[in-house]
Amino acid sequence: MVKTLSRPLLPGNRFLKFFLVFLAMSHFVSFTTNVRAENKGPAPDVKVGERLFNGLLPTGDGSKSCVSCHTMYTGDTMNWNPSALEMAKVAAEMDLATFKEHLLTPTGAMREKVHVKYQLSDEQLFHLQGYLKNLAIEGIDDKPLSINKLLIFLLLGGLMTIALVDLFFTKKISYKAIHVLIIVFGIGFQLKIVAHDLIDLGRSQDYMPDQPIKFSHKIHAGDNKIDCLYCHSNADEGKSAGIPSAGLCMNCHQVVRNGSNSGQFEIGKVVDAYENNKDIEWVRIHNLPDHVYFNHAQHVNVGNRECQECHGDVENMHIVKQENDLSMSWCLDCHKETMVDFKDNDYYKTFEALHKDLAEGVLDSIRAADIGANDCMKCHH
Ligand code: HEC
Ligand code: HEC
Ligand code: HEC
Ligand code: HEC
Ligand code: HEC
Ligand code: HEC
Repeated sequence: MVKTLSRPLLPGNRFLKFFLVFLAMSHFVSFTTNVRAENKGPAPDVKVGERLFNGLLPTGDGSKSCVSCHTMYTGDTMNWNPSALEMAKVAAEMDLATFKEHLLTPTGAMREKVHVKYQLSDEQLFHLQGYLKNLAIEGIDDKPLSINKLLIFLLLGGLMTIALVDLFFTKKISYKAIHVLIIVFGIGFQLKIVAHDLIDLGRSQDYMPDQPIKFSHKIHAGDNKIDCLYCHSNADEGKSAGIPSAGLCMNCHQVVRNGSNSGQFEIGKVVDAYENNKDIEWVRIHNLPDHVYFNHAQHVNVGNRECQECHGDVENMHIVKQENDLSMSWCLDCHKETMVDFKDNDYYKTFEALHKDLAEGVLDSIRAADIGANDCMKCHH
């Protein structure tokens, strides 16, 4: 009798026992690991480190807070200083002595300029680096903009629903114009959000991503007048213009190791990629759909077009920006307008009828469209 009575309770008891044993064991494990961690030495106080980093605790005689240069944005290409996250990844790899040296007795033109007057104790440095190690692992959570858009979209939907319900059922608001206004504007804004996102899905005029290295065309092609073709030599003879390898950068950066804006940090990445044979993962900006054929040599070499006609004044841009939308009408319009140097270019020898018209004055000039540049098959194979 007793057995049968207690039977239904048994499974529950068993679970309880398991649970208690598990609890005890997990406590024991965490206790022993804590002891082990303590044996290694004290853990840094990440909170103290964070306050030091943000300048909430004094770091020295009139010195600037770290965060004022090492900002907490993930996309901060226009800030020449290493972002907090990038810097933290480097700092996390340093031993405490090196970290101390970088801050208190810096060497190198830029470091001497930026890391000045810090009077941090060994203990403070320990906490500060602890915070940076933590940051390097956890990262910065930037919320994507599209979430906001989605919220606005849903909010508008909600407002419109309330307006509709009130219009037909609850009838709290007597002025019908208010309902109509809410619904019309609501639909209008929603359509705008949808249209914006859908139309722009494939096209990306003004697209300006952050690159893995703060490479500036203004400094290279502008200030230092390096020819576009020095780095994009393929544009003259091949389909794509090509992005130079770290090896080509090293032609100069073997010697130039200090940038006036970024010190050794950014050029250091080039050197690191070169020495360790790593690819620099440049983010591509211009991108035609697969069904369109475009050839650089045809335009740069045969058509004699300047890079700037299609890409804008790249030599004045720190960050390359897509100037044109690369739409079909953009291509067709230019082909209709642009005269080709017909007489002197061997490439056009085969167009005998056009040469005749030109010689007889029937045509005063030949445009790209006249020689078939706007035939569907030229661009869509
Ligand atoms: C005035 C701007 C500025 C301030 C303030 C600043 N830094 Fe920097 N920091 C830089 C620049 C610029 C570099 C790159 C220097 C270079 O590589 O030549 C750098 C580099 C570093 C590096 C990488 C070392 C290297 O060059 O490889 C660490 C680590 C660092 N900073 C930590 C800190 C900490 C911690 C603080 C606050 C106590 C701080 N910085 C304050 C501008 C600043
Ligand atoms: C010192 C080498 C160098 C020189 C000189 C140079 N570029 Fe670049 N270019 C690069 C690198 C590296 C990238 C990839 C990173 C970026 O987008 O900024 C690039 C990217 C570009 C892009 C964007 C490619 C894409 O992803 O769609 C265009 C367009 C471009 N360059 C045009 C030019 C023009 C025009 C000139 C001359 C005014 C020029 N470049 C001179 C190195 C160079
Ligand atoms: C023909 C020579 C040459 C080539 C090739 C070259 N650079 Fe430079 N680069 C320079 C010069 C000159 C500076 C300016 C140094 C200064 O600020 O005094 C510079 C500066 C820089 C800077 C630092 C900018 C600043 O002001 O802090 C970075 C980063 C850089 N280059 C990256 C690259 C990359 C990446 C490539 C290859 C795609 C490359 N460079 C190819 C000559 C060159
Ligand atoms: C007639 C317009 C036109 C001219 C002129 C032109 N480009 Fe481009 N460029 C484009 C288009 C379109 C793309 C996108 C190609 C694709 O996605 O297949 C592009 C892409 C690029 C890219 C990135 C992808 C690649 O091809 O490697 C670079 C770099 C570039 N161009 C550099 C240059 C340079 C440098 C010149 C001058 C020497 C130049 N372009 C002249 C239209 C042009
Ligand atoms: C800045 C003006 C300009 C723009 C923009 C332009 N082109 Fe052209 N394109 C020309 C000229 C000039 C020629 C004539 C050169 C030649 O004989 O090939 C040409 C010729 C061509 C040809 C070769 C036709 C043949 O005879 O074989 C193709 C294909 C072509 N373009 C594709 C494109 C595409 C695709 C785009 C847009 C992504 C584009 N072009 C944008 C100026 C332009
Ligand atoms: C000079 C080059 C060029 C010629 C010629 C050309 N196209 Fe296009 N076409 C493009 C480009 C570039 C795109 C990509 C547009 C985009 O991404 O917005 C495109 C896209 C398209 C699309 C896809 C729809 C879209 O907007 O993405 C179709 C369909 C198309 N073309 C048909 C044609 C037909 C039919 C012809 C002949 C009457 C033609 N094309 C001639 C360059 C050309």
